[in-house]
Amino acid sequence: MTNAELDLDPAALGARFPAGFAWGFATSAYQIEGAAAEDGRGPSIWDTFSRVPGAIADGQTGDVADDHYHRFREDAALMARIGVKVYRFSVSWSRVQPDGSGAVNGRGLDFYDHLVDAVLAAGIQPLVNLFHWDLPEALQDQGGFADPRVVDRFTEYAALVASRLGDRVSDWMTFNEPAVFAFLGHGDGIHAPGLRDWPTALRVAHNQLHAHAAAAAAVRSLVRDARIGIAFDMNQVVPATDTDRDRRAAAQWSAARDAWFLDPLFGRGYPQLGLETHRAAGHLEAVELTDPPSGDLDYLGLNYYRRDPVSARSDRAFDWTIDARPGTEQTQMGWEVAPDGLRDVLLALHREYAPREIVITENGAAYPDTVDPDGRVRDDRRVAYLARHIAAAGEALAAGVPLSGYHAWSLLDNFEWSLGYTRRFGLVHVDFANQRRTLKDSADWYARLIVLTR
Ligand code: FCB
Repeated sequence: MTNAELDLDPAALGARFPAGFAWGFATSAYQIEGAAAEDGRGPSIWDTFSRVPGAIADGQTGDVADDHYHRFREDAALMARIGVKVYRFSVSWSRVQPDGSGAVNGRGLDFYDHLVDAVLAAGIQPLVNLFHWDLPEALQDQGGFADPRVVDRFTEYAALVASRLGDRVSDWMTFNEPAVFAFLGHGDGIHAPGLRDWPTALRVAHNQLHAHAAAAAAVRSLVRDARIGIAFDMNQVVPATDTDRDRRAAAQWSAARDAWFLDPLFGRGYPQLGLETHRAAGHLEAVELTDPPSGDLDYLGLNYYRRDPVSARSDRAFDWTIDARPGTEQTQMGWEVAPDGLRDVLLALHREYAPREIVITENGAAYPDTVDPDGRVRDDRRVAYLARHIAAAGEALAAGVPLSGYHAWSLLDNFEWSLGYTRRFGLVHVDFANQRRTLKDSADWYARLIVLTR
């Protein structure tokens, strides 16, 4: 479907989804909460990393962010106004256990307790994500996720949160984007903790897979009827050109990244091509890999944003670049817009792994939005982006993919990691000078779509 042919009419789109389809929003703790030093919260690796000179584009931190810690009731009311049915948020481990183990910070747990109540009172189901990259700094100092002892620490933390919230929360997620945390944080060094050591990145990936399984079992034992998933980010990986080299590089990259996590999660152990690729690149030196346990997932979360064209620089493994191609439609992130890729990734996941259910746990776009003098934010490009991706999701659903929900990233403009506050992903605009929230046109559009699905 081309842009011109696309029907942006929310009624036409909404009609393609069944009643009960879980429209939602996703956010994460460090990106919105602020209150970084309040009520006993300990430092996380993102507090440390955001203070490294040059690490964040605008030199900013998540110290204040959207001040959601103090404004969560207002934010829940905004979601109620938009009409979403699910709110996916993450818990800051260092609020709950400032040192990452041992002593529990009651006020940290109280915050999430109140948040869950506010979300439920707004008529919205909470979905609790246990880890969105903000590891307690104290644990990093002991080796972080590269040290296998983290598995017990994470399981203990998961149990604490599940014991406190499990009477009201049945939807859980262990990790958000384990590949981004492992590879960008420990291989490429552009996310916290800022390491550039691939064997470490591979150990982190391995321990996350083990921690997922152990924490999922702990949550299941504590929460009746728990539904447990993990959010995996997968874009549409394609060779940048139709050459053998690029085709091989694209296949190696998918195997060393996407299948590297998905194959073990679905009980197949590490993929052969992934092993060959990482080994050839020297990533497995002194790394011990026993096949991780399967993920036992009630649903697979998919975070989808773009097409990733892979361009080989040589025949060597990992000697490639992944960049949007000139002349393609791109968002402000410089990401290639590819709605059909969402349909194709959903179909491929269904064919290859047959998860019981799939939830699109993130999808969205950054554009440089401004509030017009009349108070409106005319983010037409975001509306078109969302409409085209939701239409593609509808096609996958019609083709038999067991898709049960869609979470827009994100409710609010927020701290976009190494890009600081320079990228706005919200359907609600935030003026960071005074924390004023303004619904963008996309929020009104999303609200109409949701109403028309019921
Ligand atoms: C995803 C992250 C999320 C946000 C979006 C834009 O990779 O999970 O926190 O940064 O990208």
